Parts: sequence; C-alpha cells; structure tokens
Amino acid sequence: MDKPGQSDPWSPQSWQGRAQPLAVRYDDEKALARAVDRLRALPPLVTSWEIERLKGLVASAQRGERFLLQGGDCAEALADCRPEPIANKLKILLQMSLVLIQGGKKPVIRVGRFAGQYSKPRSSATETRTIDGRAVTLPSYFGDLVNRVGFTPEDRRPDPELLVRGYKHAALTLNFIRSLVEGGFADLHHPEYWDLSFLSHASLTPERRGEYEAMTRSLADGLRLMEALGEKAVDDLTGVDFYTSHEGLNLWYESAQTRTVPRREGWYDLTTHLPWIGDRTRDPAGAHVEFFRGVRNPVAVKLGAGCTPDQLLPLLDRLNPGNEAGRMILITRVGASAVDRAVPPLVRAVRDAGRTVLWVCDPMHGNGMTTAGGIKTRHFDAIAGELERTFDALASEGARLGGVHVELTGEDVTECLGGGSGVTEHCLTRNYASPCDPRLNYQQSLELAFRLAATMSKARR
Ligand code: PEP
Ligand code: CO
Repeated sequence: MDKPGQSDPWSPQSWQGRAQPLAVRYDDEKALARAVDRLRALPPLVTSWEIERLKGLVASAQRGERFLLQGGDCAEALADCRPEPIANKLKILLQMSLVLIQGGKKPVIRVGRFAGQYSKPRSSATETRTIDGRAVTLPSYFGDLVNRVGFTPEDRRPDPELLVRGYKHAALTLNFIRSLVEGGFADLHHPEYWDLSFLSHASLTPERRGEYEAMTRSLADGLRLMEALGEKAVDDLTGVDFYTSHEGLNLWYESAQTRTVPRREGWYDLTTHLPWIGDRTRDPAGAHVEFFRGVRNPVAVKLGAGCTPDQLLPLLDRLNPGNEAGRMILITRVGASAVDRAVPPLVRAVRDAGRTVLWVCDPMHGNGMTTAGGIKTRHFDAIAGELERTFDALASEGARLGGVHVELTGEDVTECLGGGSGVTEHCLTRNYASPCDPRLNYQQSLELAFRLAATMSKARR
C-alpha cells in the first residue's frame, strides 16, 4: 500500500480503500447498505458542541488542570440496556471520581465506556470449541453490534441489522444517563451509601488501611460540608457530567453517523464524544487511522508493549498534524512488567517532537492471564502495579499521568482476582458475567481509585 500523505483527500468513506485487520465480512451487501442508509438518516447521538466542550476539557487535562477517568464494560451487551446496570456503572464512576478529586485536588472528567461499546476486536477471527467430542469452528464473537455471543452458525453470522439495533440501544442508554445526570445523583454523594467493606478486610496492610481510612474521613467531611452549603453544591463543585466513549472499530457504524454541522467547520463522528483506536488497528496506513484523521472529535489511541517511537510519531503526524490541543489522548496498556521498558521511550519521543498529548494508563489489557482451569482473568495487584509504575515512569520523564482507563462494572462480579475483598481463583466462576474481558467489580474499582488517589496525594507532598 502507498504511504499515506497529509494532503490525501479525506471523506467519511475514504477508509474503504485502506487495509483493515479483522474486518467484519457481511455476506449480504444489500442488507448492509440498507442498515447504513438507515443509520445515516437517524439523528445524531451526541452533538458537536458537547464534543468541542470535551476537547476543551482534555486540553486542560493536558495542561495538568484536570484528570480523566474513563471506564465501563469491556463489551457492552444489548441485553444489559436495563436501569440497574446503567445506574450502577454511573454510581461507581461517580464515586471513583470523588475519590480521585480528593487525591489529586483537581476536577475529574468522567467518560463512560458506554452507549456504544458494542464492537470488539479479537485476537483470532474464529473460535473452536469441542462439542459432542467434535471440534467446531465458527467466527469469533465481535460484539453485539456485529454478531451474537451464542455458539451457533446463525448467532455468529455478522448481521447488518445489529448496526441499527446497537444505535437504538446506545440512544436508550444515553437517554437514561442524561436523565439521571440532570435529575442529580444526590443520594450517591452520601458516603453511607458506599460499600467500603473492603477497608476492613484482613488482606490490606495496616499502612494501606490507614491511608484509605484517612482519605474516607476527609472525603466524608468534604461531602458533608458541601451538603451543608446546599442541595446543589456537590454537583456544582464536582461538576457531575458524563461523556461517552467507545472503540471506533466498526467503520460502517462510525461513518454513517459522521456529518458536518451548521456554522462549524469539519466533520464530527456523532456516535460518541470520544472514540478510540485500539492497539490492533493503529497502523498509520490502515483504515481506522484514515477514518479518524478526518473527524474533529478528540481521539484516543491504545498503545501496547510492542509500540515503538517509530510507530508512534507517524501516527501523531497523521491524526493531529496541526498539534491541536485537546485532540490526542495516548493510552498505554503494556502490562505491569513492561512499563519501565516500554513507556519511557514513547514519552521521550513525544516530548522531543514537541507533541501535545494526554497520557492515560489502561492497566487492564496488558495484564490478562488464564487460570489452570482455562478462565480469563487479571490480578488486582498487576492492575494497581501497572498504574503506579506508569505514574512514576511518566513523572521521571518530566511528563504526567493525566488519566486512567479501566474495565469495570458496578455489579458484584467475580472476574478479576484479588483486591481487599479477596476474589480467589476458586470463586471466579461464582458470578463471571463478561462475554469478553474480565472487569473490576464495584469494590475492586473503588479500591483502585483509593490506591491511585493515595499515589496522587503522595506526589503532591
Ligand atoms: C479494549 O479496550 O477492550 C481493547 C480490546 O483494548 P486494546 O485495543 O487495548 O487491546
Ligand atoms: Co477489553
């Protein structure tokens, strides 16, 4: 393929001429065209002014004035478009953000992996299972926007109609989130609604427990003071708003909702405020980078342990040639043991090239492991360890950790090992609900926020 040049013409369809690893193969082109036409005619899910506002907030995080918290399911399920899971996800994100405000003493930008996180990259295009003693191979599950999780040929066939169903569920989710946020989460500000039982668990060191308890006390004092100031004071001071994000993997979906808007220049991807490009699709000459170079949204890119400065700099040239503030978020996800080797060269290259980025750590995707019993999991210590090492690695290069990206749920699942609440290998099967990667449960998520807040607070001293 020719090397892409900056002056190449761009259109919402120009990605179609570019290489696309793991592209979904729809076998009914007419049905695909019908679904795309339908999506093109439907109203946008988000607006350009919300996107521009988020870009301004990201720019302020790049200057060190804010911190980004991004989290939610690995794969959002259409079946989970129900009030409890959505409200619980907002609740844990809100609680984590209050802990991080306490630790970092700066406002937190809350971004959910929700209202469209329906499309999944997989390491293999097919999955083989043994059924009745015979090996059966079918297409992998690529998320509810593409096919279904069941293991039958019908379930796994990519179905273009799911693009429209995904859009509708994203709209329903967003509608509920907007109403909850507008209505205020007043009760969630009360620490008595927080489940802090991991604080008393035996597996915490006395030093760690002391730190967490001190933080909880000052958090509770702060919240009480704000409550005393008046009903709306908490919202006003902490600015309860949420932005949406998802991996911009299915370019049929993204491009169908990409438009120009009156009185603004350029194109906006209006499926979400903050799309990201995954570690498997960040080739500067590939379809995803081609598509996202043309939209005005802030864009994040995941960087795995194999990412070198030689790969990163052309990517930044391509996605942000004008070095616009607020546009680029780089999410490292290298695994706890690779941080010291992989992260500093990237940070130096970005600094030497004079590039403006927000450094965010995803401590989940580089720490996957499989138990002897064949269950995909991640250990809390590796997750917390990657976050802390990344914080230090950035600081020692004169840069700053500007955010955290996690896979979590507000439910009491048993998918990741460890943490004060003590999920062991033995209890992993008790409530393992993710169809994809293992998520932190409510307590593990809150504990991770406490760990990070303690690191931030120490760094300020
Ligand atoms: C994800 O965020 O679920 C994911 C697949 O990430 P990555 O591209 O970093 O592997
Ligand atoms: Co994942």
